[in-house]
Amino acid sequence: MATSSSHVDNYDASKFWIASARNFRTSARLHLQHFLFQNTIGYLLEPIIEESLVASSRPLKVADLACGNGIWLTELHSHFAKNNISAQRDGFDINPVNFPDAAYLPDSVSIKQLDILSKPLPADLIGIYDVVHIRAFVSVIPDGDLTPILSVASELLKPGGFLRWEETRGDKWAQGINNEWVDVLDTRLGQFGFQDARLLSQEKRKQDYKGWTEDYLMVWEECAAFFLPKSQALDAPLTREVWTEMFANSVKETEQGVAVHQGKVVTVVGRRPQ
Ligand SMILES: C[S@@+](CC[C@H](N)C(=O)[O-])C[C@H]1O[C@@H](n2cnc3c(N)ncnc32)[C@H](O)[C@@H]1O
Repeated sequence: MATSSSHVDNYDASKFWIASARNFRTSARLHLQHFLFQNTIGYLLEPIIEESLVASSRPLKVADLACGNGIWLTELHSHFAKNNISAQRDGFDINPVNFPDAAYLPDSVSIKQLDILSKPLPADLIGIYDVVHIRAFVSVIPDGDLTPILSVASELLKPGGFLRWEETRGDKWAQGINNEWVDVLDTRLGQFGFQDARLLSQEKRKQDYKGWTEDYLMVWEECAAFFLPKSQALDAPLTREVWTEMFANSVKETEQGVAVHQGKVVTVVGRRPQ
């Protein structure tokens, strides 16, 4: 029989995202989350990046790392099409289960299975992208070590290319996880070697609190799997049964007006040196 273990001990980011429980519900949650990010930020790509890229007037290449169901890429396709911007967009994710079928993707959008943290990266991807985009990767970095993901972004970018990263903290209700790095992500990019790193922190809109609450409740519901049932861990600090009861009580509280939203969305931009 297992002895005490916390949900943080039981969390393995690499296993969580490839588990069969990451199914259509996860994808539906990511669709919701996309529109909540967009409602907060107001644009898909910072206008200043877009202007700078368009001024270079060549077909652009954009990569989305850990792209989930590809919603950011396909929305970027619609935005670029309206503005006559020509670009190839490539998405990469470790778990292909939520990829849209290729038949429904625009020709200029490709989505491929790739563990972006595995080494070496495919040689044909090195140094070819004008923009590398990352969003909502916080759950894959529970220890705050950004070197692996920043190395990948840097390797994929052309000299002078832009890294654009949007994040929201996930630790304000979780003991044992520290996402303080999100609030100083511009400094962390600068320390790594990215140039002109800048951070924008935007409050979530009150009218979106209900959507954010639903989004987080769906995450919490998935977290039940991290707690062993009482029958397997008599002395665990928190059993699955206790978590399930706490979750049901939380849902009741949200029905009475409690919101779960973690405050702000942080957007960071930096450039790979020329
Ligand atoms: C919270 S989701 C965000 C998805 C997408 N970026 C978005 O904002 O809609 C995190 C994504 O990271 C992916 N992921 C986790 N570890 C990864 C890895 N090592 N390589 C590639 N993708 C990974 C997961 O499969 C999941 O789709």
